[in-house]
Amino acid sequence: FKLTTVEEFEAATDRLLETGAKVGADSWQLRVKNQTPHCKFGEQGICCRICSMGPCRITPKAPRGICGCDAHGIVGRNYLKFTAGGAATHSDHGREICHTLYESAADGNYKVKDPDKLIRIAKEWGIETEGKDIYELAHEVAETGLMEYGKPFGTQRFLKRAPQTTQDIWEKEEIAPRAIDREVATSLHMSHMGCSSLPEALVRQSLRAGLSDGWGGSMMGTEFSDVLFGTPKPIDTEANLGVMVEENVNIVVHGHDPSLSEMICEYADDPEMIAYAKEMGAKGITVSGVCCTSNEVAMRRGIPMAGNFLQQENVVLTGACEAIVVDVQCIFPALGPLSKCFHTKFITTSPIAQMPDSEFIRFNSKTAGENAKAIVKAAIDNFKNRKPELVHIPDMKQKATVGYSVEAIVKVLDGVTNTQVDETGTTKPLLECITSGVIRGAVAMVGCNNPKIRPDTAHIELMKKCIANDIIIIASGCSAQAAAKAGLMDKSAKDLCGAGLKRVCELADIPPVLHMGSCVDISRMMILAAELAKDSGLKISQLPVVGCAPEWMSEKAVSIGNYVVSTGIDTFLGVDPYVSGSSEMAELLTGGIRDWVEAAYTVETDIEKLVDLMIERIEEKREALGI
Ligand code: SF4
Ligand code: FE2
Repeated sequence: FKLTTVEEFEAATDRLLETGAKVGADSWQLRVKNQTPHCKFGEQGICCRICSMGPCRITPKAPRGICGCDAHGIVGRNYLKFTAGGAATHSDHGREICHTLYESAADGNYKVKDPDKLIRIAKEWGIETEGKDIYELAHEVAETGLMEYGKPFGTQRFLKRAPQTTQDIWEKEEIAPRAIDREVATSLHMSHMGCSSLPEALVRQSLRAGLSDGWGGSMMGTEFSDVLFGTPKPIDTEANLGVMVEENVNIVVHGHDPSLSEMICEYADDPEMIAYAKEMGAKGITVSGVCCTSNEVAMRRGIPMAGNFLQQENVVLTGACEAIVVDVQCIFPALGPLSKCFHTKFITTSPIAQMPDSEFIRFNSKTAGENAKAIVKAAIDNFKNRKPELVHIPDMKQKATVGYSVEAIVKVLDGVTNTQVDETGTTKPLLECITSGVIRGAVAMVGCNNPKIRPDTAHIELMKKCIANDIIIIASGCSAQAAAKAGLMDKSAKDLCGAGLKRVCELADIPPVLHMGSCVDISRMMILAAELAKDSGLKISQLPVVGCAPEWMSEKAVSIGNYVVSTGIDTFLGVDPYVSGSSEMAELLTGGIRDWVEAAYTVETDIEKLVDLMIERIEEKREALGI
C-alpha cells in the first residue's frame, strides 16, 4: 500500500496544463500569478465599500472612514457579511432539498428512501405520524422545515438535539438562531452603513447566523437528503482523475445539490442510455464527481470522485469529458471559456448559478427525469466530437471506503471495545476508545482548497500526522476528497496509524479517515459531538475534539467555522478570514469568544505549526479530564 503524493498530483496536473497550453486554455494557476500580490487592504479586511461615500480604506494617516468607522468596525462588518453569505448559501441549498422532499411522491421523480428517518424527524418535531401515508408525512415535514426559514417566533427546532448545556449557552449568550432568513437579513441589516460597528455585536451576530446554518439550514439539507436518497452506509469507491474512463462517455457532476446529481446517475445507469452510448461508439457511461455533489453520490452510490475544488479544470483538461454538469456553488466561471477549448459541454442547470459560455438546461424537481435524460443524451451525442489528440487521463486513482454517517459510525464501532460496554447504538464504544487513550481524540477536517496553500498538502499532511498520533479523522467536503485521492480512505491506510488507532481500524474494519459527506454534512459532525457529550455526560467543549479547515476559501466556510466554535469546538484555520486589520476582531475570534461559547479560533498559516497546535489542544483537553 502506498499513498499517492502531492508531487504525483502536481505532475499529473502539469501534464494536463501542457494540453491546456496547446489549445490556449487559461487556468487558475495562471490567474493566481496575475492576481498576486493581493490587495493589502482587502487582505486585512480594512477596505469598506458598503456606502457610496467611499470606498474607504484604513491607513495610519486615515484611521477612519468618512462616516467615522474605524478598522474594527469595518473588519467586523465585513466578517458578518461574509458569514451571512455563507449561511444564506448553505441554507438555501437546504431549502431546495426541503422543496424536493415536498415534491416527493410514490409515482414521482423523487421517492422517500429512508422512511424511518422521516418518521424519526416527524416525531422529534411533534408531527403526528399515526395513520399517515409516508408521502403525506413527507409533505408535512417538508413544509414544517420550510417554515423554519421564516417563522416569526421561536428558535430553530434542531437546537434541541444539542446537549442542554450547549442550549443554555446559546440562550444565555443570545445566539440561539431564530428563523434562518431572519438571521441572514439581520446580519445584512446590522452591517449596513450606520448600524453596528461594535465588534462584540458583529461577532455575536456572526455566531448566530452561523448557527442558523449548521443547526438549521445545513442540518435540514443533510437530514432530508438522507430521507430522499438514503442515509449513507459504508461503500467502496475510487478517487482521483484516473476514475474517468477513456472508452466511455464521461459525465462529470459538480456542485452541491444531490437532487440533480442523483437523477443524472439514475439516467446514466439506464440500459436504454447505455445502449445509446454504445451506438455512438462508446463502451459505456462513466459518471464521476467534483466537489460536494461528488461526495453526495459517492456516499450513496459509490460513484467515483474525479477530484476536489481545485481540480475542476483538470477534468476538462483531460479532453475526455463529454459534459460537466453543474448545479450551485464552488463552480469556476472559468469552466465556460475552458470548455470552449475542448469539445466539452458545460451545462448549467440552476437559475441560481448561471454563467457565460454555458448551455443552460433548467432543472427542477417536477421535470427532473426529463431534464436528466436530456443532459445524459447531450453528453452521449457529444462523444463523437472528442479530439483524440487532446485526450489524456492521468493514470492515478486510489480506493476509498466512504459513507460514514453518524448512524454508520455508531454501527461500525459497536463491539470494538472489549469491556462491559453493552449499550449498542450509542457512541459509548467510541468514548471508551477515547477515554482509554487507544484513540487520543478526533479532528473534524473540513473545507476547500485554496491556492494560498499548496493544494491538498495541508489536508493530507495534517491527517497523516494526526492518525500517526492515534487521532481519528472525520472529514467532509474537499478535505475528504483530498484524503480519498491520496489513499487515506483506503482501509490499508491503517498502517500509517499509531498502534491504538490501527487496532481500532482493524477491529471495526474502517479506514482511519472517515468520510462523513459534503459540506452541509458538517451538521453530521455536530450531531456526533452532541451525542458524544450526551453519552459521556461531558460538555462538548470538554471533549478532545477539534475542527480544522486548513485550506478553506468560501463564505460558506466562515459560516461553518462560526457554528463549529459556537457549538463548543475549537476551530483551526490555515487561512486568515480577513480580520488581521483589526486587533479587536482578531482577539475576539481567537480568544474573547471563549468566554461566551467555550471555544475559539486559532489561525496559523504555517501548517506544521497548525497541526502541532491541534494535537496540543487535544492533549490539553485530555489532561483537564484526567484521562
Ligand atoms: Fe466609508 Fe463608512 Fe461608507 Fe464604509 S460605510 S465606505 S467606511 S463612509
Ligand atoms: Fe462543499
